[in-house]
Amino acid sequence: MSHQVFASSAGADSAALDARVAELLGRMTTAEKIGQMSQVNAGDAVIPDHLREDIKAGKVGSVLNQVNVDTVNKLQRIAVEESRLGIPLLVGRDVIHGFNTILPIPLGQAATWNPELVRKGARVAATEAASAGINWTFAPMIDITRDPRWGRIAESPGEDPYLASVLGAAMVEGFQGTDLTQPGTIAACAKHFAGYGASESGKDYNTTNIPQNELRNVYLPPFKAAVDAGVATLMASFSDLDGVPATGNRFLMRQVLREEWGFGGFVVSDWASIEQLTIHGFSANKRDAAYEAVTAGVNMEMASTTYRDHLKELLDSGRIDMALIDEMVAGILQLKFRLGLFENPYTRLSDFPPIANEDHLAIAERAALESIVMLENRNDTLPLKKDKLDSLAIIGPLADDPYEQLGTWIFDGKTELSRTPLQAITGMLGDAVKINHVRAMETSRSPYSDTFEEARQAAAASDAVVVFLGEEAILSGEAHSRANIDLPGDQAELVRLLKETGKPVIAVIMAGRPLTLANIVDNVDAMLFAWHPGSMGGQAIAKVLFGAHSPSGKLPVTFPRMVGQVPIYYAHKNTGKPATAKTYLNIDDIPVRMPQTSAGMVSTHMDAGITPQYPFGYGLSYTRFSYADISVSNEQVPMGGRLTIAAVVTNAGDVAADEIAQLYVRDLVGNVTRPVRELKGFTRLHLQPGESRQVSFELDTSDLAFYGRQMQLMTEPGEFHAWIGGSSEASLQTGFTIVDE
Ligand code: BGC
Repeated sequence: MSHQVFASSAGADSAALDARVAELLGRMTTAEKIGQMSQVNAGDAVIPDHLREDIKAGKVGSVLNQVNVDTVNKLQRIAVEESRLGIPLLVGRDVIHGFNTILPIPLGQAATWNPELVRKGARVAATEAASAGINWTFAPMIDITRDPRWGRIAESPGEDPYLASVLGAAMVEGFQGTDLTQPGTIAACAKHFAGYGASESGKDYNTTNIPQNELRNVYLPPFKAAVDAGVATLMASFSDLDGVPATGNRFLMRQVLREEWGFGGFVVSDWASIEQLTIHGFSANKRDAAYEAVTAGVNMEMASTTYRDHLKELLDSGRIDMALIDEMVAGILQLKFRLGLFENPYTRLSDFPPIANEDHLAIAERAALESIVMLENRNDTLPLKKDKLDSLAIIGPLADDPYEQLGTWIFDGKTELSRTPLQAITGMLGDAVKINHVRAMETSRSPYSDTFEEARQAAAASDAVVVFLGEEAILSGEAHSRANIDLPGDQAELVRLLKETGKPVIAVIMAGRPLTLANIVDNVDAMLFAWHPGSMGGQAIAKVLFGAHSPSGKLPVTFPRMVGQVPIYYAHKNTGKPATAKTYLNIDDIPVRMPQTSAGMVSTHMDAGITPQYPFGYGLSYTRFSYADISVSNEQVPMGGRLTIAAVVTNAGDVAADEIAQLYVRDLVGNVTRPVRELKGFTRLHLQPGESRQVSFELDTSDLAFYGRQMQLMTEPGEFHAWIGGSSEASLQTGFTIVDE
C-alpha cells in the first residue's frame, strides 16, 4: 500500500526538525520504533521493575497518569540516561478542566462564550500540570453532542459546531501557547475523533451512524478548527462510525485528517481502543486489530499492547512495511523535539509559580462567574439584597459539598481549594443575616426523609430560600449516562415543600448536563444553572446571587422539556411540515374522535409542545438588553466577497452587565437542506445602564460554506436571512443575497 508522506509545516525550522527526526529514525531498531508507538500506564507510586526495564529497553514512547514530579523525573531519567538512544517520554494526563485548581466543566466553560477566558483557563491548567512534569493533556474534548443523556456532554462544548470550533481552538492555544518549549505549555489532544457525541440513545461507547454529510457539516468542523489552531495530537474515538470503528477508520484518519486537512501531528488511540476492535467484531484477533489501526493512521497505542505484540510480525509477514512505521514514529518524535524534551527533559519546580495561586483561582472564579446561566427570574427575585434580609435559608445537597461542585474528570483537583456556596455566602453576609442551613439530602439521589421537614421549617423561618440542587459529580462523565434526566432523588419534592412556605425560592442547580426541569420550574421564583462550577464555584454563585455580577452565561446546548424530545437542537432542518405555534395542537386539546388530521399534520410531539424548555443561546440578565437597527453592509454580495451585519444593542435596564450578542444565518435553499439557523458569530460586551453599542459581524462568503451532496465544500448563490440577538430565538432580522457574477 502507499503512504502519504509525513506532512510537515513549511519553513527552515521545520526542515531542521524533519532532519533531526530523520536522523534519529535512521539510528533506531525496529523494536525501538515500535516502542515509541506504545503508551503505558505509569500511575503507580513506586516505579515497577517491569516498567523500568521496558523504558530502558526503549519499549515505551509515552507514559500516562503519573503526576508526582519526582517520579516523572525518575521516569524521564531512565529514558534519557539509561536507554540506548536516550529518547525522552511523552507524559500524558487527562487535564480536562484544570489540574489542582478546577475550572468549570467544559460545558460550563462553553456557557461563558468567552474564548479569551477559556484560553486563560487552559493556560492555568497547563501551567499547573507542567509543574508536575506532564507535557501532554488529553484535551480539548470537542465532541458535538445533542444528547444530554450522554454523561460525556459534561466534557463537551455542547451542540453547536461554530461555538465548539471557536472554544476548542482557544483551548488548544491556551494549552500549547505559541512555543511548546516554553515552561507552562503542554501538547494538546483534540478528541474523540470522530462522531463520539452521536452515541445512540446517549449510552456511552455506543454505536454511531452519521451520514457523511452530517459528519462533515456538524461533527468534523471543531476538529478542523483545532488542526488549524495547531493542535499537536488527536485521539481516536472508542465509537463505531457507520460500521467502521473510529480507531480503525481510514476514511477519518487518512482521507479527512491527513489528506484533506494536511494534519502533521499524530493520533493516539483511546484507552485500549485498538484491542477493542476485536470486541467490536471488526478484527478477528489482536494482530488484525493492530493492522487496522496502524494502517488507518493511529500512531500510538494507549494502554493495550497490540502494537508491541504484533507490529513486528506484521512487518515480517509483509502486511505492512517499514515506511508506514517510520511515518507513524516520525509524528511522535517530532512532537518530542517540538516540546524541547531532548534539551530539557526534566521538570524543575522552581520554573513554575506556586500551584493554585491567586491568579489561577481568580481565573477559575471568573470562568465560573461567566458560566452561570440565569434561567428564570420572576418578579426580579434576584439579586438578593443583603440589607433587606434578616435571614436566609440555604438548603440542599450541593450547598456545601467541596467535592461535588468540582464535577467529572478531576483526578488532580484539590477539594481543600473549593469554596462552597455556603462558605462564600456566609463570608459575604457576615453576622448581618442569619443563615439557616439544612442539607436535607445526603446526596443528590436521596429519597424523601424527615430532614425535608427540617428544611421546610428553616425556609418558613427565613426571608428567602436558596436551594442548591443538581447532580453529584459521578452522575455525569465517562460511562455515566442517564435515561431519565430529571433532578435525581426527591429533589422536586423538596422544592415543592419549600415553595409551600410562600417564601421566595431560588434554585441554584449544579449539574454535568442539561436537565429536564419541568417538574420544578413552576415552584421556583428564580433559577440559576451553574453547571459543576469548580473550585471557586461557591464564590461565583454568591456574587451572582447578591448582584455583584449580573448573570451573563448563555446555554451552549438546548434544554428539553422532556427527555423524549432528544435529540433537540436549534440548528435543526425545517422538514416539509414544520410546526408553528398556530398549527400545533396539544394532546390535551385534541377533541375525542377528531379526524386523523386533528394534530395539525406537522412535525412535533403532541405532548411536549414545539419548543424546548430553554433554547440554545438563552440566558437572562439583571438588566434588559434590546436589539435594534439591524443592517447589512451590502444586500448583494458577490461570491468571494465580504459583508458586515450589524445591530445596536442597548442596556435598557439599570444595571451594568455583560451580554452575548449572537449572529444567526439561514441559507434558504441549498444543494442539501440547510439548518433553520446557524450561529455564525458572537461577542461578549459590557454595557452600562442606558448605554448603546453597535455590534458588527464580518462574514466572508466562505463562512457560509457547507458540504453538499457530493461532499464538496461549497457556498451557493442565493438568499440568506440573518438575525442578531441574545439567543437562538432572536427576532431582529435582515437578509442578503449572494450573487454569482
Ligand atoms: C477516555 C479518554 C481519556 C483516556 C485516558 C478514556 O477512557 O475516553 O477521553 O483521555 O481514557 O484516561
